[in-house]
Amino acid sequence: MEQLVIKGNVRLNGEVSISGAKNAALAILPAAILSNDVCVIENVPCVNDIKILLQSMEQLGVLIQYIDEHKVKIDSRNIHNLKIDYDYIKKIRASYYLLGALLGKYKEAEVALPGGCNIGSRPIDQHIKGFEALGANVDVMHGMIVAKASQLIGTNIFLDVVSVGATINIMLAAVLASGTTTIENAAKEPHIVDVANFLNSMGADIKGAGTDVIKINGVKELHGAEYMIIPDQIEAGTYMVAGAITGGDVTVTNIIPKHMEAISAKLSEMGVVIEEYDEAIRVIANEPLKNIHVKTLPYPGFPTDMQPQMTAILSKTSGTSIMTESIFENRFSYTNELNRMGANIKVEGNTAVIEGVAQLTGAEVSAPDLRAGAGIVLAALAAKGETTITGVEYIDRGYEHLENKLRGIGANVYRVLDKADKSIFKVV
Ligand code: UD1
Repeated sequence: MEQLVIKGNVRLNGEVSISGAKNAALAILPAAILSNDVCVIENVPCVNDIKILLQSMEQLGVLIQYIDEHKVKIDSRNIHNLKIDYDYIKKIRASYYLLGALLGKYKEAEVALPGGCNIGSRPIDQHIKGFEALGANVDVMHGMIVAKASQLIGTNIFLDVVSVGATINIMLAAVLASGTTTIENAAKEPHIVDVANFLNSMGADIKGAGTDVIKINGVKELHGAEYMIIPDQIEAGTYMVAGAITGGDVTVTNIIPKHMEAISAKLSEMGVVIEEYDEAIRVIANEPLKNIHVKTLPYPGFPTDMQPQMTAILSKTSGTSIMTESIFENRFSYTNELNRMGANIKVEGNTAVIEGVAQLTGAEVSAPDLRAGAGIVLAALAAKGETTITGVEYIDRGYEHLENKLRGIGANVYRVLDKADKSIFKVV
């Protein structure tokens, strides 16, 4: 079982380049199958979720060709199968985008119910409500979601909860429908705008993405396109916190600073200096960190996917902080692991009360999910002594070349096969 070994308490210093947005890629790659031609997608992050998604698309008959590590050619002209099995899909929740894309193009799709991170019950009722409003019949049978329509007709859909997944999935299903679809109470995350921009570059007619009302005028067909995915807001935020939690000086590059505003604002409230450039942000942490309160919210609020990373840094301030999770009901399980590293966090319902401690200490800990794993890595970077982290497979779902990037800014981090393999670990 692979493990990350981190010798912490080292100030991180330097530049780290941010990869393409995983959550945008998870929607844009399936969106490419809506065209009747070839699409070339650039800035595709090299992470396990994407590899699994592309394998499942091959199962449909899509020809996938890697032009380089981050550039993928998608040829959807010979799709011969409209069913995605559980084997491919159990690991990634975003498999449900294939449902919207296949339904939109072929008026038929059968996709296993999604898996993904265990951070709450995560229903998909709003996706199904949207498909049904467009005229599809949707059944859940033998672990599969089966959607069929004789035709899809545009309509008004008001989402009961602000859902990123439902907003994107309804866009995918509606783009080739006849007439106009309006999604109200739509999510506004940067990757929703990215998916809409990609669809429009293929000839779709989508307006309002990035606001809470999206209008999709159905078109007859979509053509091929070349498209570059936006940078990953959460990866960038994670490295910003890496700089801040170690009292370091780290610049994240190839980013869109506007997407980072909620994270930058909270770090500067803690006393971290944030310098913004056109496509980079520099984080300098020379002063002791102040305690603050944070609440996760849909974009442009503070992202739930940065909650564990932020909790990790709040555990090192000089006072009491409160973290309120308002999106997912089960996203604090990792706090037990942080407490094993000397943090003092008490969780009550959707709130964590974090008493800052002067020093975290290395321990043997386990990552329970992707972003929690990132939070634990950050705590380990700041902790005195050695931390061994299992559950690395979760972290690999969403962070490209994690240890290389961290080593590039001075971290002492290695991946080992098991404990016995630690002999290769060199103290820098
Ligand atoms: C996406 C992101 C995930 C992020 C989340 C919130 C991807 C692949 N994943 O997940 O990393 O944490 O947005 O920013 O982009 N809900 C319902 N019914 C539904 C759909 C959602 O009740 O049909 C609820 C969820 O349980 C949750 C809330 O709505 O409480 C938001 O979920 P949603 O925005 O849909 O998250 P995902 O798209 O699954």
